[in-house]
Amino acid sequence: MTTHTASDVPPGILYGLGVGPGDPELITLKAARVLNSVDAVYAAASSKNSYSLAVSIARPHIPDRTPIHMLQFPMISDGGARQDAWTANARVLIEAVEAGRRVAFITLGDSMTYSTYGYVLREIKRQAPHLPVISVPGVTSYQAAAASLNTPLVEAEESLLVVSGACGGDHLRHCQALPDTVVFLKAYRNVDDIVTALTEAGRLETSVGVTRCSQPDERITRDVRTFRGRQASYWTLILSKKRRDDEPPVAD
Ligand SMILES: C[S@@+](CC[C@H](N)C(=O)[O-])C[C@H]1O[C@@H](n2cnc3c(N)ncnc32)[C@H](O)[C@@H]1O
Repeated sequence: MTTHTASDVPPGILYGLGVGPGDPELITLKAARVLNSVDAVYAAASSKNSYSLAVSIARPHIPDRTPIHMLQFPMISDGGARQDAWTANARVLIEAVEAGRRVAFITLGDSMTYSTYGYVLREIKRQAPHLPVISVPGVTSYQAAAASLNTPLVEAEESLLVVSGACGGDHLRHCQALPDTVVFLKAYRNVDDIVTALTEAGRLETSVGVTRCSQPDERITRDVRTFRGRQASYWTLILSKKRRDDEPPVAD
């Protein structure tokens, strides 16, 4: 894969854009500029993921003349079907770029953090290692959550662990040394077990759930036990700290 600087951009190119967590003001100037200049915008379509949100965040920056294409990615655990979708959708993007088009593939939050873009990018590197690609980072959901909570993610010598909560709390249980801050993304599916793991780790009182962060209907759940027994929104993360906010970090 060839790397390019902004001043050396060939005709056909793929931009992988993270559009931020929801607040339209949390899209980067760079992503906005790229969206305003590309020939087409692509986004992932699925009943369960970010497609409509990513497009709605990006929409004010996309000129009316620019087509928006939805690429289907099945949200199922069938590895074969998922691989087929990555392969086929990567091919769509490759063909667009090879035809000389400047295209953007947009995802919610940061493009390099638990993102469909990661799978597509791997396929593009495999199928078309020559393809010009520029990845543009975005503000992650957990950065926005920390800002919403007015709580630093980490300070001094503290450590941060970002995990998927899709399989519950095991990532926390299996830590050799508990990190100072843990972020569970994809907390919706197994939130009960995440709450159990936080209880076991003695972190219940220093854990907070944030749903639809930076969006008009953002919700902050100070008592994560209230997630038990109900279906959490897909747009939920849990931020868990070892110490209370009014306690200073261990000095560096
Ligand atoms: C596939 S991951 C995508 C992460 C994204 N790329 C990022 O940088 O934050 C989806 C998960 O991210 C979290 N998430 C994304 N946006 C969110 C938001 N606005 N508020 C709360 N959680 C969010 C949720 O845990 C959701 O299940």
